Amino acid sequence: MALWGGRFSGPSSELFQLFNDSLPVDYRLVEQDIQGSVAWASAIASVGILTSDELTALHKALAELLDEVRAEPAQIVASGAEDIHSFVEQKLIEKVGDLGKKLHTGRSRNDQVATDLKLWCKEEGAAVLELLQGLRQEMLAVAEREVDAVMPGYTHLQRAQPVTFGHWALAYVEMFERDISRLEDTMNRLNTCPLGSGALAGTAYPIDRYALAQSLNFAAPTLNSLDSVSDRDHVVELCSNASISMMHLSRMAEDMIFFNSGEANFIELADNVTSGSSLMPQKKNPDALELIRGKAGRVYGSLVGILTTMKALPLAYNKDMQEDKEGLFDVIDSWSLCLKMAALVLEGVQVNRDNARTAAQQGYANATELADYLVSKGMPFREAHHVVGEVVVQAISEGKAIEELPLEQLQGFAAVIGADVYPNLTIEACLEKRDVLGGTAVNQVKAAIAAKK
Ligand code: ARG
Repeated sequence: MALWGGRFSGPSSELFQLFNDSLPVDYRLVEQDIQGSVAWASAIASVGILTSDELTALHKALAELLDEVRAEPAQIVASGAEDIHSFVEQKLIEKVGDLGKKLHTGRSRNDQVATDLKLWCKEEGAAVLELLQGLRQEMLAVAEREVDAVMPGYTHLQRAQPVTFGHWALAYVEMFERDISRLEDTMNRLNTCPLGSGALAGTAYPIDRYALAQSLNFAAPTLNSLDSVSDRDHVVELCSNASISMMHLSRMAEDMIFFNSGEANFIELADNVTSGSSLMPQKKNPDALELIRGKAGRVYGSLVGILTTMKALPLAYNKDMQEDKEGLFDVIDSWSLCLKMAALVLEGVQVNRDNARTAAQQGYANATELADYLVSKGMPFREAHHVVGEVVVQAISEGKAIEELPLEQLQGFAAVIGADVYPNLTIEACLEKRDVLGGTAVNQVKAAIAAKK
């Protein structure tokens, strides 16, 4: 039975019910709804709406209901109730009769759903935070394992300068750390309790909202009832945090898909996160990474969805806002899954050090070094840049690396070049010169890892 039949003389159409009911989505709030109801029962008892016996009976019934839905969750949706709040109330009335009908005194589904959803966000947000921290650890472990494994660094997907895998891994650790700090920030901001805001104007009973907020483990109550029931910033923020994090995961996936390609062959992904082709027996496809990249789009879609839903809503509650949950739930599910998957991929990744090193040696990744060498001999950088460009053209035409050109030939481009040029052109020299905070020199990367641990 609906919670609101009195004003109506005819029933809802079946289509309207199907359209309006949110239980198939918001059943996931059942524990939060019960938790909020326990706290609300205490709050109205404290202002004389319930006797202490009634409070005890309601608390007992709510505890029983919690056990029952945990044991048999499928009964919730099967009940056919309008939404999770109706389901809980219906069940209470079945258990304690008319007393169950007293619980909604001074409360509205508007402050109730706002509270339920924030409780859910707190719990799920904390779980995602742990996953982010786990992924950060896993990437830090890659950095440590591969601290001195050489690979080409790219700009424009052109080999630019050599870096180490450790350095590459730490780039993602930086991103994951920002993701963590962003989520922590969101969690702090959403930690206020809307319960006691009523439908929109505030509850008519002199509830101590500070005590109520505290009893639900919120840091404080919300401070404006209109805002309380219509605020979904936390949904937007979580979708936004997820989108930024998924953007990072997707870039990581894209890097690794390329590194894993036959063309690059810098890494090998473990068998447990790759799949084969039904036709081509030789294939080992990076499906896990491709799905991470793919799911990023879906998460962005939910962010745009909730922003668009909220953008023109007048204060206070509007039914449009019921559309907040499906996207958010999917965002948190997808994000969590991708964070777990990414960690598993990193756990098993092998670096093909020789291939990666060979690639770093090719592609004239040490051209900047030659220019810097000319600068050390007194040539202005712009001129050096031009000279080295000519050297590279010559080397390409001969199919050689710069360091394979004999000294006399190099001297033809710039007389200041001496035999001491060659040690400057090795990969080790390229790496070790980047011995500056944030640089790719091995001891810098080691120091960065130590600082992060
Ligand atoms: N199922 C609703 C939602 O998720 C609960 C709030 C309903 N409030 C109302 N006044 N109809 O938004």
